[in-house]
Amino acid sequence: MRRYSRITGTGSYVPPRRLSNADLVAQLAATGVETSDEWIVERTGIRARHFVDDGVYSSDLALEACKGALQAAGLEAKDIDLIIVATSTPDMVFPSTACILQNKLGANGGAAFDMQAVCSGFVYALSVADAMIQTGAATKALVVGAEVFSRLLDFNDRTTCVLFGDGAGAVVLEASETPGILASDLHADGKHVGILCVPGHVANGHILGDPLLKMDGQAVFKLAVGVLESAARATLAKAGKTEADIDWLIPHQANIRIMQSTAKKLKLPMDKVVVTVDQHGNTSAASIPLALDAAVRAGQVKPGQTLMLEGVGGGFTWGAVLLTL
Ligand code: UT7
Repeated sequence: MRRYSRITGTGSYVPPRRLSNADLVAQLAATGVETSDEWIVERTGIRARHFVDDGVYSSDLALEACKGALQAAGLEAKDIDLIIVATSTPDMVFPSTACILQNKLGANGGAAFDMQAVCSGFVYALSVADAMIQTGAATKALVVGAEVFSRLLDFNDRTTCVLFGDGAGAVVLEASETPGILASDLHADGKHVGILCVPGHVANGHILGDPLLKMDGQAVFKLAVGVLESAARATLAKAGKTEADIDWLIPHQANIRIMQSTAKKLKLPMDKVVVTVDQHGNTSAASIPLALDAAVRAGQVKPGQTLMLEGVGGGFTWGAVLLTL
């Protein structure tokens, strides 16, 4: 009998410190950086984001998200034999945030590693976990997106600092006799490394280069709307499905205009698109599992429905996963 993988629980967590656009506008004004609620809402759809306090790391956010996912799946941490954490903001250079999380959870002993594909990280991680479960390399996995992007932001650069937030989302993915994950499609094009990056690195006891986020927003925007359509179509084709089979599109939450454009190209009404960018901003690898968990807990997304998850971001990376919940 063929072995599949299936999501059996979801969880998420955002740190308690919430900044509305008005809060952020006031904070930036104090240092002479001009922006407005109107600009942010009109260009991005973002109304608020959450930022961590000092001493809180990606693994701390991931821990809370995983507790929720485990509880929803009816499992205990000791049942887990694989942890993949998608993050571009690891707690340390090494070891991986996944290992730190594994220890905090008390899930020691299984495989644990980080996935670095920036905002596409969660769909990359889900696809890899699915493959590992299909081959029998793992049976019960925690697939997590966790980020503290607030620590990468240049608060003198209004073109980027209003866009991002912190948070984590997680799913439990288990071996199953019936298909959950139906198909996935992953891509990267490294010639676009420079359009979205944090170029600094640690060397010889110092940070060399600029450790703050740089983005050519328009270049990212243009690439994103093209690849989100092609990845969705390729994934549907692999699964032998069409747009009409999609109950919910859960795209990376970066900009409402990118989501609207993707939905239009896929002939999906916006009431089939899960939108949380207004409340979380862009939380990079955490954005898709955060949106998924919010929609599941709100009773919007229901068991048995077909979901298209789509990520896009630095690298340039993109990908999609089609699944039945
Ligand atoms: O997570 C990975 C994926 N990332 C993304 O998907 C991001 C993709 N890009 C975007 O979402 C959009 O390109 C942005 C939201 C980043 C920018 O929106 P835009 O419509 O492309 O604006 P723009 O860069 O063309 O800037 C328009 C104007 C400029 O002023 P001028 O030159 O027209 O006078 C900017 O200086 O808006 C100005 N501007 C701002 N004004 C007020 C840029 N940022 C701000 C700001 N507040 N925060």
